[in-house]
Amino acid sequence: MNEHIATENLLSRCLTDKRYRDAIDRRIDSIVDLIDHGHDSKSIVKNAGKHVGSEITFLIEIARSRVQTRGKFSRSNRLWLDNYTARYSTPEVVARYRAQRISGETILDIGSGGGMQDIFFSESNTVKGLEKDRIRYLESLINADVYGAKNLEFINSEWPGLESNNSDLDGVLIFSDPLRESGSRERELKDLIPSPADIMGNYSGVTGKFAFDVPPQIRRDKLGVDAETEYISVNGSLNRLTLYCGPLKSAESSAVILPAGIRISGEYELPNFQHAENVLEFIELPDPSLIYAGLVNQVKKLGDFRILGEDKRRIVLTSAVPPEEPFPGKIYRNLAVCQVDEVQEKLIEIGAGKIYPRFEIQPEDYYAMKNRFEATASGDREIFIFRVGPVYVLSEQEVNRQ
Ligand SMILES: C[S@@+](CC[C@H](N)C(=O)[O-])C[C@H]1O[C@@H](n2cnc3c(N)ncnc32)[C@H](O)[C@@H]1O
Repeated sequence: MNEHIATENLLSRCLTDKRYRDAIDRRIDSIVDLIDHGHDSKSIVKNAGKHVGSEITFLIEIARSRVQTRGKFSRSNRLWLDNYTARYSTPEVVARYRAQRISGETILDIGSGGGMQDIFFSESNTVKGLEKDRIRYLESLINADVYGAKNLEFINSEWPGLESNNSDLDGVLIFSDPLRESGSRERELKDLIPSPADIMGNYSGVTGKFAFDVPPQIRRDKLGVDAETEYISVNGSLNRLTLYCGPLKSAESSAVILPAGIRISGEYELPNFQHAENVLEFIELPDPSLIYAGLVNQVKKLGDFRILGEDKRRIVLTSAVPPEEPFPGKIYRNLAVCQVDEVQEKLIEIGAGKIYPRFEIQPEDYYAMKNRFEATASGDREIFIFRVGPVYVLSEQEVNRQ
């Protein structure tokens, strides 16, 4: 039997036969166990013995996804996600936040993937998700069952199709988190599949409510739609850009910091801080969501900052006293400022153990530097190194509420 059809049959049976699904889940549990003990696919297949069926490759894929999405989904150990959906599904913390922001609506999601965003949307909305890929569609049905989702329907169909000219769509909220081709670098909205512009063109007569999840690296001047740009970070890393159009737009730009739940909104502005003459007691790194959203100047309300520098990834501020909390970003207390040839000695003096360079540096140089300094650092303090012009600042992170 063709492998694709065998996978479809397996998923369909998991949907209708609970005991069969439980048995398969237990088989996946044992594969997860082998992965956790460092086994590769070849050895997992060997371990499965000679009675193994053609489904083993797919079960290994699901097991790998379960390992990969620990921490991303509270029920990761029972979800059915392939490689692609494991990578591109909306993390639970983001999906839940968006379901709080969008509630009481009837939603049509174009390209629902493994169903993760819709499962959480359905807690506060009535949702219909369209997915063209049959395997992902079947996965989404199982995943919805795993979370006990109600008010949710998935349809296996390619848009635009029957759903696109449905007169019931009056006032419906259209959501889409389009397909990203693995390895491609989308620079414009038209590179996404399906394109948000096509979707808006199709429905502009029936609704004004559109929300799109697009790659956060797309430049603002390439967006080409009148929308609120909401940048979301998770654990300090930029994770999502959502565009809210029509009545869903509540600001020009916004930044959401998760899991802390901090939301800041306003007008997009370039950073505008006085330059620092020298490094003060503290260094602050505003959250990346604020930088992308052009809202970094809003931290001025929380303290008296000077700017030390900026690179592609960060803006480095300094202040004489710690900022007011909750500060949307990271705060470091400076322990020493020195020249490059003094760094090693200072690290030993202050009892450094782990070292984290925090300036623009090639990945190979990052690890070379980290290993070189850690080789002689036998203390237990975690030290962050900033480079400011010719000097290096050795600091320790302050525990803030984020
Ligand atoms: C990034 S995934 C969606 C992930 C989903 N939002 C989640 O959180 O789990 C995008 C999906 O859109 C689907 N897709 C792309 N073009 C489509 C079309 N024209 N009709 C239906 N589905 C489509 C792809 O197959 C893919 O599964």
